[in-house]
Amino acid sequence: MIYTVTLNPALDKTVEILSFTVDSVNRITQMRTDPGGKGINVSKVIGKLGSKSIATGILGGATGRAIQSALENMGLESSFHFAEGETRTNLKVVDPACHTNTDINEPGLTVSEDLLNNLLNELLAKLGGEDIVVLSGSLPKGAPKNTYYTWVKACRETKAKVILDADGELLKAGLEAGPYLIKPNNHELSGLLGEKLETPKELERAARSLMDQYGIAKIVVSMGGEGALYVTGDATVYAEGLKVPVGSTVGAGDSVVAALAVAEEAGMSLEEAVRLSTATGAANVMCSGTQAAEYEVIEGLIPKVVFHNL
Ligand SMILES: Nc1ncnc2c1ncn2[C@@H]1O[C@H](COP(=O)(O)OP(=O)(O)OP(=O)(O)O)[C@@H](O)[C@H]1O
Ligand SMILES: [Mg+2]
Repeated sequence: MIYTVTLNPALDKTVEILSFTVDSVNRITQMRTDPGGKGINVSKVIGKLGSKSIATGILGGATGRAIQSALENMGLESSFHFAEGETRTNLKVVDPACHTNTDINEPGLTVSEDLLNNLLNELLAKLGGEDIVVLSGSLPKGAPKNTYYTWVKACRETKAKVILDADGELLKAGLEAGPYLIKPNNHELSGLLGEKLETPKELERAARSLMDQYGIAKIVVSMGGEGALYVTGDATVYAEGLKVPVGSTVGAGDSVVAALAVAEEAGMSLEEAVRLSTATGAANVMCSGTQAAEYEVIEGLIPKVVFHNL
C-alpha cells in the first residue's frame, strides 16, 4: 500500500475576482474549494492513476471534517488524526483581468508531540517491506524541525520505502535518515548544496554526492517546463519537458511524486517510470489549480515523452 502523509494540510479556496483591488470591496465571480496539502495532492493523483493510497496526517475542526468528507467523496481512503484547532484555509485570488495570483494563507493549527507520535506509531504498526510512505510538505506549528528525520528513520526500520518531498531545513533533516527516494526541484537541490546548479550534468553530480553521503537509492530532480533528471545507482536519464498548454504549475511536483510512487509499487522499469511521471506532470500542468488530471490525458502523453541516457 502507498501511504501519503500530510502533516500540515489546507483547504484551498480559489476565488476569481476581476480587477482585484486592495482597500476596496471585491466581488467573487467564481469559487471552488479543494482539499490541499502536498500529501493529499499526491493521493488525488494516485487515484487518477488507478492505484490506491491511504492519506494520513493531521486535521482539525470543521475545515478538517470538510477535507475528510471531500476525500471520501473522491473515493480516496484516509486515516487522519484530529488535533485541537482548525485546519487552515488558504485563499487563492485569481484575477483573469490583471493576470495576477494572490495567496492569503492562514497560519493553521498547532500540534503536540504526543499527537505526532501517536500518528507515527499507528502508521508504523501497518507498515512492511511492500509499502511505500510519501512524506511531503511543510510542518505545522509545534512539530519539531527534525520531524522528517524521526519519520524517515522509523519508517525505514519497517523496510517500507520512503519518498521524501520537502524543502530547506526539513529536507536536510529528512536526508540524514536516508530516504529511499527524494524529488527536489533544481532550486531546492541548489539550495541544499549551497551552489547554483543548472545543467543536467551539474544536477547529476550533486544528486550522486547526496546518494553516496546519505544512502539514497534514487533522486529525481524536476526542472519545471525543462523536464526532469532521474538518477539511480546505475543510470541517469534526462527527460525533456513536454510542450503543453499551461493551466497551473502548482502541484506539478506532487503529481510527479504520485507517479513515482505508483511506478515503484508496480515494479516498473526506469524507462516506464520516466514516461509515466513526465506525462503525469505535464497533464497536471494543463489543469487549473491543484485539480488532478484525468488518466486519459496522461495516457495520451506517455508515447510523446522524449528522454536520453546521460
Ligand atoms: N510548464 C511545464 N510544461 C510541461 N511540463 C511541466 C511544466 N512545469 C512542470 N512540468 C512537469 O512537472 C514536473 C514537476 O515540475 P516542477 O519542477 O515545477 O515541480 P515542483 O517545483 O516540485 O512543483 P510543486 O512543488 O509546486 O508541486 C516537471 O519535471 C515536468 O515534467
Ligand atoms: Mg515540489
